[in-house]
Amino acid sequence: MAGKCHVILIGPQGSGKGTQAARVAPRLRLVHVATGELFRQLMTRDDELAREVRRYYDRGELVPDELTLRVLVDHLERVEREHPGARGALLDGYPRNRAQAEALDRVLGERSDAIAAVVHLVVPRAVLIERLSGRLVCSTCGATYHVHFNPPLVEGRCDRCGAALVQRSDDTPEAIARRLDTYEQQTAPLLDYYRQRGLVVDIDGNQPIDAVTSAILAALEPVLAEPHRCPSS
Ligand code: AP5
Ligand code: MG
Repeated sequence: MAGKCHVILIGPQGSGKGTQAARVAPRLRLVHVATGELFRQLMTRDDELAREVRRYYDRGELVPDELTLRVLVDHLERVEREHPGARGALLDGYPRNRAQAEALDRVLGERSDAIAAVVHLVVPRAVLIERLSGRLVCSTCGATYHVHFNPPLVEGRCDRCGAALVQRSDDTPEAIARRLDTYEQQTAPLLDYYRQRGLVVDIDGNQPIDAVTSAILAALEPVLAEPHRCPSS
């Protein structure tokens, strides 16, 4: 996406990154790019790469950085071909550690792309566990629901495409705990990395879904309109 500007969404597992990205990306002329979703699609294949990803994914561990970067860059190139009019990507789930943040800076630098903002979703841990335990996802299109907080119109069926809803294979108590610990140890420190560059916007993610969407839009719309932050506007 040469000359584009991108937004990064950072927040712990269950903070609503996927839920909010799907809602705000089209409103901001951004394309939702979720590395977790790319891996879930990849794991539907029956090959060695799919089996390698699953070994990390199901345990709630990070997939190795080099492989993740390769999957991300391939996908960004595809997005560029398929959405030439987009302002940039809304990155959900990347970067997750310092090495990934530095790799992203390198990749974006080579393309003269910019990071316009980093949205940080703030949600207490007890709420996260409640959300992840009740999450349902569409087996076909990846849309996200919750048995209580965001139920589908017809039980067990996706509103968008009608396919069956399932639990994610990493929404087990053990994998949830491991993912939250990894977030605290490796991903949360990235907030300082981006705060020093004046990019972080903190959003209270512990509100109803619509209220969080409004808060993100209110924070990002003015930022994306600034030519020095987002030359592709
Ligand atoms: P990924 O798919 O990114 O999962 P995650 O980081 O564990 O985050 P989640 O998707 O669990 O949470 P979310 O914030 O998107 O919450 P959601 O909107 O669904 O990654 C999965 C795995 O892939 C990783 O563990 C790793 O193995 C691999 N991977 C991915 N990226 C990688 C990378 N960069 N490097 C290496 N490995 C990588 O919401 C959760 C639930 O809450 C839903 O049920 C939703 O309906 C509900 N909800 C949302 N908002 C609200 C609200 N405001 N009020 C009430 N309920 C709400
Ligand atoms: Mg997600």
